[in-house]
Amino acid sequence: MVVEIEGVSLHLAHPDELPVTWVGQDEVMRQLLAAWLVIDPQDLPMNPRLLGKPGVGKTTLAYAAAKRLGREVYIQQATVDTRPEDLLVTPVIEGEARLRYVASPLVTAMLRGGIAILDEGNRMSEKSWASLAPLLDNRRYVESIVTGIKIKAHPLFRMVATMNDDASTFDLPEYIHSRLQPQILIDFPERLEELAILRENLPFGDDYVLNYVTDFLQQAHASEERYTVRDGINIARFAMKLAHEADTPVRGETVRVAITQTLGEEALRYVARS
Ligand SMILES: Nc1ncnc2c1ncn2[C@@H]1O[C@H](COP(=O)(O)OP(=O)(O)OP(=O)(O)O)[C@@H](O)[C@H]1O
Ligand SMILES: [Mg+2]
Repeated sequence: MVVEIEGVSLHLAHPDELPVTWVGQDEVMRQLLAAWLVIDPQDLPMNPRLLGKPGVGKTTLAYAAAKRLGREVYIQQATVDTRPEDLLVTPVIEGEARLRYVASPLVTAMLRGGIAILDEGNRMSEKSWASLAPLLDNRRYVESIVTGIKIKAHPLFRMVATMNDDASTFDLPEYIHSRLQPQILIDFPERLEELAILRENLPFGDDYVLNYVTDFLQQAHASEERYTVRDGINIARFAMKLAHEADTPVRGETVRVAITQTLGEEALRYVARS
């Protein structure tokens, strides 16, 4: 799709389609949807940031919430070398000395009234964040240096940034932090929720394995270990494959092998002794 702004043709990105369902943890879902609400003609939506350990479900929550609003969702993956133009408009050479201007997923969401997920936002430098400052306050526009145009966000445009609370990331400057509010913290789920999440992601999962893995994860959470449901999904998946390959039912030994090969020997200390 092509949209024309101030005489410049912008080629839009495609929305993302993911098969995800959010299980349990209603409170963080409610907070995210509330942040996006507009409750008065003079009100503005907020730009929340989702914070949590790698693999706790940040991207899944952002996507599932956006889908609940029934709108197009665009995921913009941030990395250390995301440049300002990658967030806005990039020029691409097309044929003989012709340029095509390609809108980022973020800008496409702005134009289409969709929802942008700026994923792993804290991997991105301050310089790139600076190009979004006017979008994140009451101005709600960006300025593309490459094309020289100003792009206004559609009133239905919403955005959310996800951020890992690990060390391999940038500390954002205060003026960016203050524009990415509220902060929504995703914590480890309770036992029953964690089991339900494993079931949702592995519907063919063996009860014995899913319960074994849930107990393991809960033990690890209790010790503030960084293992998450994503590790649990990988462990359960591998254990079931191993058993399938050997044509035997899954036993504790098989799950312990899967734990070791997913997280290393030291993870076995969270396995209950039987
Ligand atoms: N509440 C939940 N409901 C359904 N699935 C969940 C839930 N929480 C986590 N998951 C599952 O856990 C896995 C990891 O989730 P996700 O990729 O969203 O984590 P993340 O926090 O974005 O991780 P990263 O920081 O590495 O990007 C996915 O397979 C996801 O489906
Ligand atoms: Mg993620």
